[in-house]
Amino acid sequence: MAQRLTPDFPVPAHVAVIMDGNGRWAGRSGLLRARGHEEGAAAVRDVTEAAAEWGIRHLTLYAFSAENWQRPAAEIGVLMKLLRRYLREERRTLLEHGVRLRALGRLADLPADVRELLAESEQATAGGERCTLRLGLSYGGRQEICDAVVRIAEDVAAGRLSPGELTPGMIAARLYDPGMPDPDLIIRTGGEVRLSNFLLWQSSYAEMHFTPVLWPDFRRGHLLEALQDYHRRVRRFGRVPESDPAVR
Ligand code: FPP
Repeated sequence: MAQRLTPDFPVPAHVAVIMDGNGRWAGRSGLLRARGHEEGAAAVRDVTEAAAEWGIRHLTLYAFSAENWQRPAAEIGVLMKLLRRYLREERRTLLEHGVRLRALGRLADLPADVRELLAESEQATAGGERCTLRLGLSYGGRQEICDAVVRIAEDVAAGRLSPGELTPGMIAARLYDPGMPDPDLIIRTGGEVRLSNFLLWQSSYAEMHFTPVLWPDFRRGHLLEALQDYHRRVRRFGRVPESDPAVR
């Protein structure tokens, strides 16, 4: 009998993923990039279901970056079409798995009907208690920090905040989703080793897992490998462990 994949160790509370490699996956098989994105949506489904089943409380997927608007209009069209399809077709599965959907980014940039579908899905899944799935859409880490700074400047100008009192917590409270905990683990597929403007503020102490697997090929078995890698890490957050024999 096939072994049921499931972690037998504590899982991180928040896993975030830079889903990369859709285009290369398609190119390798002589297919159009659109096919890579389509297959990428299947990977989104499997990883989300596994996250909910395994007790990962927060899953954040970088689905469309602020910089992705610079891609050819046809590819943007494909990605928006896939997003519409995902939001329409996956709502029931999300509900069945106790997944609450949220969007993270400059949502005003998205087409009006996509914004409406997002709002409907957010509302319909609001009671999901197993896992919160956040989709980064028109998301950029620098843009997010910049938007928070604008709100701080407004608070200072209105006399609600004095610059000398500013703390990192006050900045965090003005990010797109202040209820989102920092990611414990960031996974990047597709072989590149960089953050590409993803969760720049929140990633300060995240563990990183880079894999050459292209996103359309990524399935729960690869997620399990990333969790195993994470489980082996010692997180120190800038401190020294009390067990260090050189500490007196
Ligand atoms: C990066 O691959 C991936 C994207 C820019 C889009 C991510 C979209 C999906 C996974 C599919 C749809 C998602 C949802 C939520 C329905 P790339 O195109 O940059 O790949 P490359 O580096 O190989 O060219």
